[in-house]
Amino acid sequence: MAASPEQFRGQARLPRCASPLRYDLILRPDLSACAFSGSAAVAVAVSEPTHFLVLNAAELAVDPSSVRFQDLVPSEVVQFEEDEILVVGFDRDLPIGEGVLRMDFTGTLNDQMRGFYRSKYEYKGESRNMATTQFEAADARRCFPCWDEPAFKAKFKLTLEVPSELVALSNMPVIKETVHGPLKTVYYEESPLMSTYLVAIVVGLFDYIEGSTLGGTTVRVYTQVGKSNQGKFALDVGVKSLDLFKDYFDTPYPLPKLDMVAIPDFAAGAMENYGLVTYRETALLYDELLSSASNKQQVAITVAHELAHQWFGNLVTMEWWTHLWLNEGFASWVSYLAVEALIPEWNNWTQFLDETTSGLRLDALAESHPIEVDINHACEIDAIFDSISYDKGASVIRMLQSYLGAERFQKALASYIKKYAYSNAKTEDLWAVLEEETGEPVKDLMTTWTKQQGYPVIYAKLDGHDLHLEQTQFLSDGSSGPGLWIVPITSCCGSYDTQKKFLLKGKTDKVHIDCTASQSAGEGKGQNCWIKLNIDQTGFYRVKYDDELAAGLEKAIKANKLSLMDKIGIVEDSYSLSVARKQTLTSLVRLLNAYCNESDYTVLSHVTSVCLGIDKISVDATPQLCKDIKQLLINLLLSAAKTLGWDPKDGESHLDVMLRSLLLIALVKLGHDETINEGVRRFHIFLKDRKTNLLPPDTRKASYLAVMRTVSTSSRAGYDALLKIYRESAEAQEKSRILGSLSSCPDKDIVLEALNFMLTDEVRNQDAFYVLGGISLEGREVAWTWLKENWDHVLKTWPSSSLISDFVKSTVSRFTTEEKAAEVSEFFAGKTKPSFERALKQSLERIRISARWIESIRSEANLAQTVQELLQHNV
Ligand code: BES
Ligand code: ZN
Repeated sequence: MAASPEQFRGQARLPRCASPLRYDLILRPDLSACAFSGSAAVAVAVSEPTHFLVLNAAELAVDPSSVRFQDLVPSEVVQFEEDEILVVGFDRDLPIGEGVLRMDFTGTLNDQMRGFYRSKYEYKGESRNMATTQFEAADARRCFPCWDEPAFKAKFKLTLEVPSELVALSNMPVIKETVHGPLKTVYYEESPLMSTYLVAIVVGLFDYIEGSTLGGTTVRVYTQVGKSNQGKFALDVGVKSLDLFKDYFDTPYPLPKLDMVAIPDFAAGAMENYGLVTYRETALLYDELLSSASNKQQVAITVAHELAHQWFGNLVTMEWWTHLWLNEGFASWVSYLAVEALIPEWNNWTQFLDETTSGLRLDALAESHPIEVDINHACEIDAIFDSISYDKGASVIRMLQSYLGAERFQKALASYIKKYAYSNAKTEDLWAVLEEETGEPVKDLMTTWTKQQGYPVIYAKLDGHDLHLEQTQFLSDGSSGPGLWIVPITSCCGSYDTQKKFLLKGKTDKVHIDCTASQSAGEGKGQNCWIKLNIDQTGFYRVKYDDELAAGLEKAIKANKLSLMDKIGIVEDSYSLSVARKQTLTSLVRLLNAYCNESDYTVLSHVTSVCLGIDKISVDATPQLCKDIKQLLINLLLSAAKTLGWDPKDGESHLDVMLRSLLLIALVKLGHDETINEGVRRFHIFLKDRKTNLLPPDTRKASYLAVMRTVSTSSRAGYDALLKIYRESAEAQEKSRILGSLSSCPDKDIVLEALNFMLTDEVRNQDAFYVLGGISLEGREVAWTWLKENWDHVLKTWPSSSLISDFVKSTVSRFTTEEKAAEVSEFFAGKTKPSFERALKQSLERIRISARWIESIRSEANLAQTVQELLQHNV
């Protein structure tokens, strides 16, 4: 072996011949200079003869003269920026056993919301800096040199030197503080074994509120000075979640305290740092008067998710990023479990189908990826924090739980947590524990779902008393992939008492159907019989029914015989099958009509999303029909919307509040004049009196969108008024509502203005995606031109994967022609990076899927007639 540091370049992972046991770190952030210096003393176990210690460092200046291993002076200290490694070479083998590696280093508090970074806040009318960290996935190396992989667990003992008037938080409680003039030194307790990506530091001015779990753990929520009231709801959910997870995993919360902090500049939604969870403000703060019901839900789900990680992720950690889904899929799934238990009236498990839907929609792309994915370089990790790891991950867990049974599943999870506590696990380790505890073939079953991308569509055909089933990989482009899964099939015939379940192991199988149970209930086979597969959508697959079965289900929906989840599953499957050209848009539109008396939020949220999808495609597919289609979709939603009106009613349910907002927004987007006019009217009243009860937070977004539908370059007062509210508001949720509306204008020049506004320092970089998410269909061309012109700046300013991917997705995937796809490809040729490569490919695939869908819609002979029929029938 050539004894050169070069040999360590281009490797996916660090060599294992030495590993850290304990880090003693001193960090001195300088908040005004936006820089920091640090000293590290790392106890390292050398397990094999080696001349080298190889660890991670990026954007750090390590002082070579400060480096020592015990009393050994290294012969060379080399940093490879591209590989993000630091190689410390010695002229002889290091002794096997434990030694201490010491070094000093400096770095910048960057503006990129990763590593050790600067965030800004206002205090007494002045802008102030805070220092904070975001280390997941691989950015601890931007703060201190370390073995920055999840499997190198070590203990951390931190010391911070900071301005004495500031609050300084880290993972563990403070043991000692010494003040010397304007600075103080804060010493923290040593942590238990943990991964580097979970280390955290926050330094700034904060207020806090405090609570305590039944187990006696102190929980605090830190907010901007004067806003601690807004932390109450999160504190309550946090305290209760800790108790709940302690019971669920049968393992106490592992640390002495838990802090949760709102950070004004934050790339993700929240981060589960051990004992010091950080959030963007919108995901932690809740205010009765200023927040909407959906803000409240987001806070609850986010808090529960991050606290679940304290067990699933922090105590037991994935061995490598390939198993990221063990973290994110589980935390997502179990957050629903917690919120369902804490706030049952939200009907949270039915809302979980939003997650399943996103997973299914993404995983129907050829450019998807398996849940378990190879990672060969740190820069590839961020891109897998996507709907596959989260939503498909969470959904296949729900599928497994429902197959094994809730109780057995919980017991096995608790064993898994105990077995791997303070250590790391792979996907297979979890399957092994589940197999052992349940005796079921978990590994064979689940491997088909985690190692293989995509999922099946089950074709169901009734032949006498036999239901024939056949599985094929479902792809939105209409092709059939080669995949085969072990599919937990469930079915009902005519009533939920007749549930059957079995595993479909091969390509085809059949089930004996016995409708006598439902016959005796007066619903004989034929006309009124319905057969539903995938009961309550616990399985991660779609079903395509033959015409007779589909007709039976349509009747069952009209007659309100089906569960909420099944109603959701049918409309979602039908929409996706239509996109994939496996059924006509005509039949989808007919099916939608069966939902015209629906009044439940959870169902209507899916119906609405399907309506908006149809509206968008019909603009390009059938311009001559698109007005009628809009009217049809409006008719479908209008009766529920009219029942709810604009004004909240005393004692109404949380879900009705959500529904009102959902329907009003959809009606505005569909161009319903009456709703738009009412939205504008209420906006004018609100402008004069911000406290008016005519426009509470729940209906404000609809009103803002209505205003923007009426704005144009020559009549721009509405836009300017919204900007004024934006500038005057100190609330992140209010700001996000406005940002999400500005670009929704049909006037291209206004869209352009909104995009340019996003680049000014009036909009935090973390908030760009709100503007991007709101871009109107009319603005898609101007947004794309804008992106091309600003690409270099955008890439530099939003380097993290999820942020740059948002720019690509929200501009590119709105197009619907092959020519446009070619133009986009051409622009990005030679420009792609791992951070957004997959997002780009997926966006291009989406364009091509839309193009083919459009072609097929144009060839549907009965669409126009069906639309007319339904319109007349409804009016
Ligand atoms: N671990 C993630 C945060 C994260 C995301 C770090 C991407 C690095 C890259 C955290 O637990 C998380 O999943 N946050 C979610 C919120 C949650 C409610 C799904 C988020 O940020 O959106
Ligand atoms: Zn997470």
